[in-house]
Amino acid sequence: MTSSKNSKDLVQGDMIYEGKAKRLYATDDPNKTIIEYKDSFTAFNGEKRAEMSGKGRLNNLISSAVFEYLAGSDVPSHFIERIDENRQAAVRVKILPLEVVVRNITTGSLCKRLGVQEGIKLKRPLLEFYYKDDALGDPLVTEDHAILFGWSTEEDLFQIKRMTMRVNDLLKNLFSSLGIVLVDFKLEFGKDGSGQLLLSDEISPDTCRFWDSSTGDRLDKDRFRKDLGDVLGAYEEIWRRLSERNK
Ligand code: TMP
Ligand code: ASP
Repeated sequence: MTSSKNSKDLVQGDMIYEGKAKRLYATDDPNKTIIEYKDSFTAFNGEKRAEMSGKGRLNNLISSAVFEYLAGSDVPSHFIERIDENRQAAVRVKILPLEVVVRNITTGSLCKRLGVQEGIKLKRPLLEFYYKDDALGDPLVTEDHAILFGWSTEEDLFQIKRMTMRVNDLLKNLFSSLGIVLVDFKLEFGKDGSGQLLLSDEISPDTCRFWDSSTGDRLDKDRFRKDLGDVLGAYEEIWRRLSERNK
């Protein structure tokens, strides 16, 4: 970090970006941002929306705990520390316009797109890239698309693949110890001011699929996408298991 100032003393400045689930603020340190988690749910590229009080808090708590766990295994990320219930301090990065998806078990858009059966345990993790563009509906792309259209360099893509597979191994272990199957998830990467590649964005039930190991219950945003009910109860359950692990 370029500044030794405690992140809790960061002075929050102007909002620099508002996404579907988070707001990003400038701070008095040009290399740091404050991320505020909102109580909004959206799915299907924003077509379906809802507000649920307490959702932002849960995702902030969960994502902070997951990034802390990854930091313990030396995964370089934007995460600095949680500030309060809804906010965290992070390194200011320029996000690459790629969503990196890892699948361990078939479900979701993979089954829709290719007509493959749901719930198949894959022999090895399946890696996919999506081009982050709301107007295009975040299309599936190949590595060549990413390199040739300048969304990533070949070197960064190599690091991204390595880091993503490592994160998959670490998160599979973490969640398996909590009685949860990590079915699939999405990662984003950014570059800090000195050009270092950092795992960025969030890791939460919004961006992962979690199935209870014994009951198969869905403990993630699919409860919202598919109207399965008790959406926040599932997020609460993920947080309960994660926080008890640290006791
Ligand atoms: P998918 O099966 O809908 O493609 O989703 C794969 C994984 O990526 C799943 O864990 C949910 C996550 N995801 C996001 O985080 N953001 C998105 O916009 C989408 C479509 C999926
Ligand atoms: N994140 C996307 C949206 O909010 C899609 C999804 O997660 O299903 O529209």
